[in-house]
Amino acid sequence: MNSQLLEVKECDAFYGESHILHSISMEIEEGSGVALLGRNGAGKSTLFKSILGAGPTVTGDIRLRGRSIMHAAVHERALSGLSLVPEDRRIFPHISVEENLRFAQRATRKGETALDIAEVVERFPMLGGLLDRRGYQLSGGQQQMLAVARGLVPRPLLLLLDEPAEGLAPLVVQELSEQIARIRKREHVGLLLAEQNVGFARQCTEFVYIIDSGRIVFRGDWSSFDADAELVNRYLAV
Ligand SMILES: Nc1ncnc2c1ncn2[C@@H]1O[C@H](COP(=O)(O)OP(=O)(O)OP(=O)(O)O)[C@@H](O)[C@H]1O
Ligand SMILES: [Mg+2]
Repeated sequence: MNSQLLEVKECDAFYGESHILHSISMEIEEGSGVALLGRNGAGKSTLFKSILGAGPTVTGDIRLRGRSIMHAAVHERALSGLSLVPEDRRIFPHISVEENLRFAQRATRKGETALDIAEVVERFPMLGGLLDRRGYQLSGGQQQMLAVARGLVPRPLLLLLDEPAEGLAPLVVQELSEQIARIRKREHVGLLLAEQNVGFARQCTEFVYIIDSGRIVFRGDWSSFDADAELVNRYLAV
């Protein structure tokens, strides 16, 4: 059996006439963690939307556990095991934390049982005291924790986190990275993490891809990333 969880093969992506992604290839093994680094506008979210089938027009092939998902609709990809936490988080503001979590149970992967509320609280103890709070009453850090928890409720094979650390205070970022690392150990879920915060990304993943102007310009583990001192200056510094 193929040990690749996700394979992106020579994908191009377009918004109308705009050609955004150019021949992107990426592999994520079962249960492994991959960081996707790149500046604002590099194409990180477009790649996530391409993997989910939500937005851009995509050519090439995308395979989940060896099966092409190119022609599957967004909700079918979710039911097959992809779970996206988008950059704007999309917490429902006027319903409670608990209701936000229950909502995500609808997208549960075929043949699996969603995490129930007790299982979520066991994994994210800080949500335990917030279950009755409305979405709009949460701090940025609490919202992000809820968004990550909600992403895990459907028991995905691959969790896609789009810049979760953005806008959070350093202490909250630290807490979030510890939380993600703990969850990864426990759940054996694959992780694709778009980030500009290199330190945070390093805490959460084993492998790195850098995207620049819609092209992958580096792939490797963190030690090969560190061995090339120019990468940060060339592709990540603002
Ligand atoms: N709906 C859209 N229609 C047309 N162009 C778009 C659309 N969404 C994004 N783009 C363009 O695609 C390119 C990549 O944007 P994308 O949002 O993927 O970047 P990003 O790496 O996620 O950036 P950020 O770090 O700011 O979130 C940018 O040039 C952007 O202007
Ligand atoms: Mg983005």
